[in-house]
Amino acid sequence: MRPLSRRRALQLGGLGVAGIVVGSAGLAWAGTTRYDPVLGETLTAPVVLGSTAGNLTLALEAAAGRGLLAGRDATTVRYNGSVPGPTLNLRPGDHLGIDLVNHLDRPTNLHTHGLQVSPQSHSDNPFVMVNPGETFHYAYLIPDDHPTGTFWYHPHHHGLAADQVYGGLYGAIVIGEPDPPQLSADRVLVISDITLDGAGAVPPATAMQRMTGREGELVLVNGQSRPQLTALPGARERWRIVNACVSRYLQLRLDGQDLELLGVDLPLGGRAQRVEEVLLAPGSRADLLITTRAGTSTLQALPYDRGTAMVSGMGSAGAGSGSGGSVKDLMMLVVAGAPAPTVAALSPRPAVRDLRGAEVSTRRTLTLAMGMGMGMMGMGSGGSAFTIDGRSFVPDRVDQTVASGAVEEWTITNTSQMDHPFHLHVWPMQVLTVAGRAIDEPTWHDVVNVPAGGSTVVRIAFEAYTGRTVYHCHILDHEDNGMMGVIEVV
Ligand code: C2O
Ligand code: CU
Ligand code: CU
Repeated sequence: MRPLSRRRALQLGGLGVAGIVVGSAGLAWAGTTRYDPVLGETLTAPVVLGSTAGNLTLALEAAAGRGLLAGRDATTVRYNGSVPGPTLNLRPGDHLGIDLVNHLDRPTNLHTHGLQVSPQSHSDNPFVMVNPGETFHYAYLIPDDHPTGTFWYHPHHHGLAADQVYGGLYGAIVIGEPDPPQLSADRVLVISDITLDGAGAVPPATAMQRMTGREGELVLVNGQSRPQLTALPGARERWRIVNACVSRYLQLRLDGQDLELLGVDLPLGGRAQRVEEVLLAPGSRADLLITTRAGTSTLQALPYDRGTAMVSGMGSAGAGSGSGGSVKDLMMLVVAGAPAPTVAALSPRPAVRDLRGAEVSTRRTLTLAMGMGMGMMGMGSGGSAFTIDGRSFVPDRVDQTVASGAVEEWTITNTSQMDHPFHLHVWPMQVLTVAGRAIDEPTWHDVVNVPAGGSTVVRIAFEAYTGRTVYHCHILDHEDNGMMGVIEVV
């Protein structure tokens, strides 16, 4: 990476403010020519850091700088100089130590999304603030019975989460099976979106983008634009797909290939299920098996209508979500050559827990809402526009107090005209119904979609940990605007 000029560094660091108060400088900056990504490069994988003898210790340096993105030089924020940051390969029972070094000029912190680890102290504590120039030592103990699968890490500083994730701060975490299945390949595919201007800089988000949730023009796989992957026919690959987009839902398809779903966020039990499409809300991950057939296929994200941010007084032209638009080609898969060496069939996976028969100690309703009229355009200041149960996020107010060990049923209701992906830290959620439709198989997620004008019902076992953490909308612009609450398990 080349060093940044002071001016460029200021522009990057100032993203948070620039988007709300769109000054004349911001407008001029955004009005330059377009970034011209290099298409069709060979797919690369993020650097992999794996645990040895039950331990992984690393430094994670968050810094703004110039480096490759979509095949060209861009000025973004990065972990350890790359987008995505390193993939952390772990096993149940491991210790993970991370020194987060903040070279940014704004505060940041680190969240291990989906990991079922303690929310306290130096573990997955979203209330930690790491100021510019500071280093914070995180220490996580992954329990022996932690589910295997794909998780991820990203910053979680309230008010800056969307800017920092969108700007390039994210990486995958894999909790591997002690006895992994036979595969031709096991890949991590981190999907993110970003808009870059002709100079390779990130234009600040507009007030409207902060309301609807920003979606970038470029949809990248491992930081590349429409990369190409080759495989032999009959290969069995596992794709661990992370939706690291700030707001974009990914309705994924891969025509011409056989897809089986091992889980979204957390493993499904039994045999892998044949699927045609997988919908990944922001923050979610898919664990897919691909059995290849000769030919060329395109991994595509189909348009997904996540509603509008229309509110009274804005008229029907107000704030579409953006994802209703065009099909995005994300990656090419070229399958050719001699048949791949055969690999043993996957054995059925152990049954997963089912809370449908559990005794529920408390039922709660949480209501997600987007304010209307006057309050709307004042978001970020008054903070009344994006609420849960009528309130915007306040870090030192506890919104839900839960007894340790309780099984609860939460009905998450959405009164707005947009979908909101609801996320709870630390404790996974079993989905019972989405918009009245029952989910038959026990299905566990850490992000559940709550459709516009609908409800999603989940059950949660508040076991293993006590302490304070958060739940929020994983459209990170909405989170930054206050659609987040505090839960304390005591
Ligand atoms: Cu991936 Cu609280 O977030
Ligand atoms: Cu999370
Ligand atoms: Cu939302």
